[in-house]
Amino acid sequence: MIKLSVNVNKIATLRNARGGNIPDVVKTALDIESYGADGITVHPRPDERHIRYQDVRELSKVLKTEFNIEGYPGEKFINLVLSVKPHQVTLVPDPPDALTSNAGWNTVKYQSFLSDIIQTLHNNGIRTSIFVDPNTVMVENAAKTGTDRIELYTESYARNYIKNKESAIKPFIEAAKIATDCGIGLNAGHDLNLENLRYFAANIPALKEVSIGHALICDALYYGIENVVRMYKYCLVTD
Ligand code: PXP
Repeated sequence: MIKLSVNVNKIATLRNARGGNIPDVVKTALDIESYGADGITVHPRPDERHIRYQDVRELSKVLKTEFNIEGYPGEKFINLVLSVKPHQVTLVPDPPDALTSNAGWNTVKYQSFLSDIIQTLHNNGIRTSIFVDPNTVMVENAAKTGTDRIELYTESYARNYIKNKESAIKPFIEAAKIATDCGIGLNAGHDLNLENLRYFAANIPALKEVSIGHALICDALYYGIENVVRMYKYCLVTD
């Protein structure tokens, strides 16, 4: 079964637009779990413009499903995840001012940097994933960092799906094979939506988890969050 981890950063963005606590991030995350999500993802950034560090601490106390914290491994981020000890940390190479993640790691250039951080996270019992493009060399070298999993950056899949889904998925099938041969698990995320998710899930057999935020929360404006969680889950049923 492929797990659906819902990224709740957008809920925090909405709350932050007005001050106060509407919508309540913790309540929404708990509701999303109760509607069938398999996990909750957050992406705290140093300026806390979406999820705040305090949100992360509060969520960690009450979530019942898998908690995934993604972000750039600066000192503040590492201190936060070591204090919270989520099930999984996804390391992302985005600079603090990036609008959203826009590239995978260069796993050749940053191999020893990543290996050291992954070792620290493992010493604290935290599963690791690193964000990579569907590029043969980057996936092979990701395995050398000692990470448990990679998260394939699916922006190019989503962009090309509209033109030609067979060619859009091709580099991802190749990357998934390499990851499996190297013994690392496979997650995926970015720009997955109700239109492109089913085809991705059906064609990447080793896929363990998808992390989805933007499209899912936008779909909730039309269908309601409870329906939407079920609709995304349904796209992940491939047999
Ligand atoms: N994975 C990573 C590493 C991300 O940075 C994001 C966006 O925060 C996602 C997945 C989810 O992407 P989207 O919001 O487009 O579903």
